[in-house]
Amino acid sequence: MTDMMRAAVLTEPGRFEIRSRPIPTPGPGEVLIRITRVGICGTDLHIFHGNYAADSLPMVPGHEFTGTIRALGAGVGGLTPGAKAVVDMNIGCGACYWCRRNEILNCPHMRQMGITMDGAFADYMVVPARLVIPAPEAVPDAVLALTEPLSCVVRAARKAQVTFGQSALVIGAGPIGNLHVQLLRTIGAAPIIVTDRSADRVAMAVAAGADIGVSDPAQLRHAVMAATEGRGTDVVVESVGQPALYAEAMRLMRRGGHLAAFGLTGPEAELPLNILDTILHENSVKGSVAGMGQDMHDALTLLVHGRIDTAAFTRASFPLEQIQQAFDSIPDRPDDLKTQIVVA
Ligand SMILES: NC(=O)c1ccc[n+]([C@@H]2O[C@H](COP(=O)([O-])OP(=O)(O)OC[C@H]3O[C@@H](n4cnc5c(N)ncnc54)[C@H](O)[C@@H]3O)[C@@H](O)[C@H]2O)c1
Ligand SMILES: [Zn+2]
Ligand SMILES: [Zn+2]
Repeated sequence: MTDMMRAAVLTEPGRFEIRSRPIPTPGPGEVLIRITRVGICGTDLHIFHGNYAADSLPMVPGHEFTGTIRALGAGVGGLTPGAKAVVDMNIGCGACYWCRRNEILNCPHMRQMGITMDGAFADYMVVPARLVIPAPEAVPDAVLALTEPLSCVVRAARKAQVTFGQSALVIGAGPIGNLHVQLLRTIGAAPIIVTDRSADRVAMAVAAGADIGVSDPAQLRHAVMAATEGRGTDVVVESVGQPALYAEAMRLMRRGGHLAAFGLTGPEAELPLNILDTILHENSVKGSVAGMGQDMHDALTLLVHGRIDTAAFTRASFPLEQIQQAFDSIPDRPDDLKTQIVVA
């Protein structure tokens, strides 16, 4: 008889069901992962509410996960059963123009674990061995489960070419905005200005490393110009996803600055871009979506070596059986920057 496992299936928007399913068997080139801990991210909330990847339902979401390598499929070498691991969730087709250039996030056939296919809110998952990254035993699962969200932030900073000594404005101090602030601090950006309409969120981001916090939108321009001798910042990260804030971002970056386009807008939103200013000032806009490959490795390295303060991200957790309560209660817990599901 096949051994069974639990899987939290989102059967329709707003409703999880814990179902019993056979534990999958890893095929050639695959690895069976015993899931231990999984973060809930904004994308999961969009899926939960039926606003994203609705075609995938019923499905098992969950893409911010860590676990233990349980079994190796045929031909898999270099990985050790029993070791902790995190997994790059992006599966390229392997054959298209973009995959050949390792630009997997642009692969037209890309699948993402927990978004367009079943993910990690389950006891076990089979994943391609090439996407498994071993992690040190000593690092808590709660910290390892932050690798994927941090990898998105790492990629954005890489794309926007942030280096030490650069000034930065982070718009939005949600969970991800807070990670942007922490990464910028680690890189050595200065000064770091953060803005959010929530004064509590601004206070959190200042405690996490921002130099200047602004919660009154009417004060933002003055604060940015006062901190940069009237130039605007070298880098602006939009981490909310509102067209009006993108427009503000364009006005607050310095000549020759970079906009990290990060917060997800609706499909119709457009960026107001003055062509002549773009030419004359050599401004740039750098999009980034998710994190993959080196972004995951670098995010893991930063977490392993304690470069990110994870306390506010790891204190709220629910067992897998209570996944419904975990999702339902997120709006009531704004101080919890992250909610995690403990699977094992
Ligand atoms: N590009 C990527 O790789 C990637 C990865 C993860 C998340 N995202 C996106 O990044 C954004 C941030 O993620 P999150 O999880 O922190 O989102 P969130 O919704 O939890 O937080 C957004 C923050 O923005 C603030 N806010 C809302 N309206 C505002 C306004 N008008 N002015 C100032 N602040 C305002 C809110 O108070 C909140 O603190 C989202 O759009 C998310 O979809 C992008
Ligand atoms: Zn996510
Ligand atoms: Zn491809």
